[in-house]
Amino acid sequence: MAKINTHYQKLQAGYLFPEIGKRVRAYAAAHPATRIIRLGIGDVVLPLPAPIVDAIKTAADEMARKETFRGYGPEQGYEFLLDAIAANYRSQGAQVSPDEIFVSDGAKCDTANMQEIFSLDSVVAVTDPVYPVYVDTNVMAGRTGPADSDGRYQRLVYLPTTAANDFDPPLPDGRADLVYLCSPNNPTGAVMSRASLARWVAWAKQHEAIILFDAAYEAFVREPGLPRSIFEIPGAREVALEFRSFSKTAGFTGTRCAFTVIPKELKARDDSGAWVALHGLWNRRHTTKFNGVSYPIQRAAAAVFSPEGAAGAHANIDYTMENARLIREGLARAGYRVFGGVNAPYIWMQVPASMTSWQYFDRLLAEANVVGTPGSGFGSCGEGYFRLSAFGFRENVEEAVERIRTKLPA
Ligand code: MLT
Repeated sequence: MAKINTHYQKLQAGYLFPEIGKRVRAYAAAHPATRIIRLGIGDVVLPLPAPIVDAIKTAADEMARKETFRGYGPEQGYEFLLDAIAANYRSQGAQVSPDEIFVSDGAKCDTANMQEIFSLDSVVAVTDPVYPVYVDTNVMAGRTGPADSDGRYQRLVYLPTTAANDFDPPLPDGRADLVYLCSPNNPTGAVMSRASLARWVAWAKQHEAIILFDAAYEAFVREPGLPRSIFEIPGAREVALEFRSFSKTAGFTGTRCAFTVIPKELKARDDSGAWVALHGLWNRRHTTKFNGVSYPIQRAAAAVFSPEGAAGAHANIDYTMENARLIREGLARAGYRVFGGVNAPYIWMQVPASMTSWQYFDRLLAEANVVGTPGSGFGSCGEGYFRLSAFGFRENVEEAVERIRTKLPA
């Protein structure tokens, strides 16, 4: 008799973004004449820069010729891309060697899958609010008990990250073996300072814990002096791994390419108490379950680091961050308390006290025809907040802000 993985039955609602999509589709079907502006999921809208598209075309032509055709590539990624990534780290003040990098088709998958190489009895800590993938995948794996009425799972350690602590994740009170940190943060838009990261690295060392550092939005850091990689912090290579992505950095959400860095020094204990390098475990997992990103897409990713490709990617980021400024300042003028949007493409706003964040979602959709993401979808500390994404066309962003200001001021 086939039986299911009953841990899946503990999961609360459907995954957040498909759930929002379902509600928006239902509203659109009932109001076909309405022009809905979508600032919910953080999905890029600008076309790929020309040098990046040219790299795909050239690589596709290579695949059409006997002399240059390629079959399976190295599962970890082609050397030309690994070298370009390592050089980029060096330029940011972090030491990463090419053979510590694992190219993949998405940071979502990597953040979801990384937990597989850790013991099932690991105690996992997450910030609250949090990117839901970290939580749901640990629930699926069986590392948690059921959820309580606030949607919080037993055995998970939640670190409230709110306006009260300037969205700086507090260290856990008790035991935590694995900690997911995301900076610049999705959803709050906050960036962890060097001092904050250094505090976490020291804590992880002291507790033999591992930091799973999600830097998918590092390219949006604008203010000088803020860290883009945890590997800028001395000692981090012994306690942290890092996820990065081309999705938001260079418009690859539909193209798919990302990577994870696992330093050779990074170790955790086995059942006998012996230290084991995580690099070897992830390499074993990656080579067993993944056959690499396609050659043309890896060429496209490498082109992101060329002077012309980087200029195109930066121009798109500038455009998005100008959107972020317009949203942030427009909402503040409409009376909202707003956070983020300075070093991240997300604006985290407080909803009027009379409403829950889902109620605000419904009203914003019905009255302003604007879609955002309810804060409670990211955790119980997200209740009372709402996330707007700055990815969008300028005219839509401007119109969305104007609609919110006139139809639903704070
Ligand atoms: C988001 O809107 O939070 C992101 O687009 C989700 C993701 O990158 O998977």
